[in-house]
Amino acid sequence: MSQNKVILNYDGQSFEYPVVESTIGDRGIDISKLRDQTGLITLDLGYKNTGATVSEITYLDGDQGELYYRGYPIEQIAEKSNFTEVMYLLLHGELPNKEQFDNFETGIKKYNFVADEMKRLIDVFPRSAHPMGVLSSLTSALTAFNPKAVNVNSKEDLDHAAEMLIAKFSHLCAWTYRKRMGFPINHGDNSLNYVENFYRMCFRRPNEEFVMNPVVVEALDKLLILHADHEQNCSTSTVRMVGSAHTGLFASVSAGISALWGPLHGGANQAVIEMLEMIEQDGGDVAKYVEKAKNKDDNFRLMGFGHRVYKSFDPRATIIKKAADDLLNAMGINDKALDIAMQLERVALEDDYFVSRKLYPNVDFYSGIIYRALGIPTEMFTVMFALGRLPGWISQWKEMRLKGDPIGRPRQVYQGAQKRDYIDIVNR
Ligand code: CMC
Repeated sequence: MSQNKVILNYDGQSFEYPVVESTIGDRGIDISKLRDQTGLITLDLGYKNTGATVSEITYLDGDQGELYYRGYPIEQIAEKSNFTEVMYLLLHGELPNKEQFDNFETGIKKYNFVADEMKRLIDVFPRSAHPMGVLSSLTSALTAFNPKAVNVNSKEDLDHAAEMLIAKFSHLCAWTYRKRMGFPINHGDNSLNYVENFYRMCFRRPNEEFVMNPVVVEALDKLLILHADHEQNCSTSTVRMVGSAHTGLFASVSAGISALWGPLHGGANQAVIEMLEMIEQDGGDVAKYVEKAKNKDDNFRLMGFGHRVYKSFDPRATIIKKAADDLLNAMGINDKALDIAMQLERVALEDDYFVSRKLYPNVDFYSGIIYRALGIPTEMFTVMFALGRLPGWISQWKEMRLKGDPIGRPRQVYQGAQKRDYIDIVNR
């Protein structure tokens, strides 16, 4: 089959650019020779039409509302798999057999503690510090305790680095929670699986026996699975960009945590609950807030609505909405925020502003309701997202390094002052 090409006519000349084929979804125009041949660059603010890489990890179809991890639809994965298996799948490309699963889990458990000096670091943060800032700093600090750079040419080294970060990161996430709550810091328990261990590390109180609630474990497991990867989103692109300078894995992930913190990205889960509480305190007039979101002179947005890629529904939101319903029923909780969320969804989905712009509830619209039911403070929500996204960040970092992607270095169209001479301060 002959290769598809795109012809560009510019300045009286014709240039050909090859089309890079995909297995499904968007194909790309390879414009790597564009500047050399034409003197032009492309301009695409927010990278809305720019493919930053060729990847084999996650596929999402924004028009159909589909999401696949390594080819497996998210609905099947969320129903049948578990977070540890999903981490393996993302990292290694295939579902593990029993032996591979056991080895992977054992590999993680080998690192199921964090150096005691790290406790001193967490001590110096004020209790009021935002958990995402603390998490990003602690992740970066881990580098100091594990100074050996990952040798990307060694599969063993790559596997160990991933397992080490997965194990230690769950401690750092739990520790930020305990810091916030004023609980003593603890280490992991190797008799538990990854999610149980995290759950216990967070919620074990110093003065009473810890009781594992399987309903909570299942809800946490599902949330982590749904957040595990989402191709080239803002935080993942950050991890890849930082890593493209051959910066280490832990430092690259630390940068990704900062990107995730923003309210337009992972920080939306905190912003959604704050918005629902605000609407409730203001008398519960949902229509008023929908009008505010539509008003271009008002910078209020409906948090948890809209997505750069999904232009029908977000399949993760559908699964989470059901999980939130199930959890609240099982725990006998009647959350006013859920009522407001459902009213808001109904009003927005019937409104031409949202319909014409294809703005639907996203994954963050309902996740906060689950976290609230579990007693997790609002400022911790994005930390939960980070724990889920970690295997995606590591897999994408690993793929980028193994494929040898070049350092990320975009160009710009400069519209500033032209060359001019310096004027001494007394003459200005
Ligand atoms: N409320 C009101 N209007 C909105 C919203 C919203 N939540 N989202 C987009 N719009 C409008 C926007 O004003 C624009 O209108 P117009 O065409 O008249 O100028 C149009 O819809 C397109 O919006 P955009 O900002 O150009 O779209 P984007 O692809 O650049 O942004 C987004 C995507 C997710 C940043 C945006 O929809 C948003 O800010 N949503 C709220 C924050 C949120 O929930 N973020 C979580 C995303 S999902 C979790 C994750 O993966 O991070």
